Amino acid sequence: MSYFNDKTILITGGTGSFGRAFLKTLLREDNPKSIRIYSRGEMLQYETEKLFPDDRIRFFIGDVRDKERLSRAMNGVDIVVHAAALKQVPACEYNPIEAVKTNINGSINIIDTAIDNNVDRVLALSTDKAVHPVNLYGSTKMVAEKLFMQGNSYSGDIHPTKFSCVRYGNVVGSRGSVVPLFLEQKKSGRLTITDERMTRFWLTLEEGVQFVRKCLPIMTGGEVFVPKIPSMKVIDLAHAMAPDAKIETIGIRPGEKLHEILLTEDEARHTKEYDTFFVIEPELKFWKNGRTGGRSLPEGFRYSSDNNTQWLDKKDFNRMINLSSY
Ligand SMILES: NC(=O)c1ccc[n+]([C@@H]2O[C@H](COP(=O)([O-])OP(=O)(O)OC[C@H]3O[C@@H](n4cnc5c(N)ncnc54)[C@H](OP(=O)(O)O)[C@@H]3O)[C@@H](O)[C@H]2O)c1
Repeated sequence: MSYFNDKTILITGGTGSFGRAFLKTLLREDNPKSIRIYSRGEMLQYETEKLFPDDRIRFFIGDVRDKERLSRAMNGVDIVVHAAALKQVPACEYNPIEAVKTNINGSINIIDTAIDNNVDRVLALSTDKAVHPVNLYGSTKMVAEKLFMQGNSYSGDIHPTKFSCVRYGNVVGSRGSVVPLFLEQKKSGRLTITDERMTRFWLTLEEGVQFVRKCLPIMTGGEVFVPKIPSMKVIDLAHAMAPDAKIETIGIRPGEKLHEILLTEDEARHTKEYDTFFVIEPELKFWKNGRTGGRSLPEGFRYSSDNNTQWLDKKDFNRMINLSSY
């Protein structure tokens, strides 16, 4: 029987790319009692409702900044998947306080209301941009990760809410990724890339969803789960998507890195490696888990998009795009 069978699940940001894909999978593969979608925009909720006509879904208009509303929405919830965020790098740079209010204060509200409502577990979505962050988006997600890790210390012993994170790279089929931009630019026969050396980690929405589904039943609270996913140079991606287009290099943008990191050398010291993923375990003294297995990593291990052992070729990437919602 599925872990999600008969559970009430709240998805913050449930109308976004991840949220909809997760919702679709839960309805298809699991048998939840109820799924609550929590987001601000009524139009996106209306469209989501049309896409998934199912009595088990409830739509809550609400902002993660609004603790009272969140508390109402979390009543009777077993699992929270926290996907709501401001995630566009330039928008977060230009509106830093808004990014802090949604990504940091919103996370604090999720932690407080989950504990107060006896939610069993909360899994928050994080990003490689949270690792050694160079932009405000990444910095807010780094703080959010820390808050979720330390959130476990507020949970108490009687009915402890467990908090963990998943951290992954660029999602091919998500809103605002480079893929829709390249598809648009392809029409003019000219693609722009910022730097020829740039590499990124890539996964499909479906892979992100399946990773979250895999982590929720095994989380004990306090871990950051990192999937093993392939890398590709952005210039190779541009060639794969538009082989005949002219590629113009426009220079690295503010807040952009040449390569992304999913696991640092310092984190590697308290990380366990499994066949398809890593688990960064907290260094906190109070943390006890019952998980066995996993291998320790060698001193100096670092998982970054340029030192990856798994690389996508053009064929693989085009297959990923076809699997995504374009
Ligand atoms: N896409 C990627 O490549 C990627 C990679 C790694 C990690 N992630 C993380 O994965 C998560 C989901 O990303 P996504 O690609 O699905 O994003 P998305 O498509 O932009 O969706 C964001 C969702 O959050 C909601 N939202 C935004 N601000 C909110 C607020 N203040 N209160 C309540 N809801 C709010 C949005 O709806 P409304 O605007 O209507 O409120 C929408 O439903 C994010 O946490 C992101 O950091 C994404």
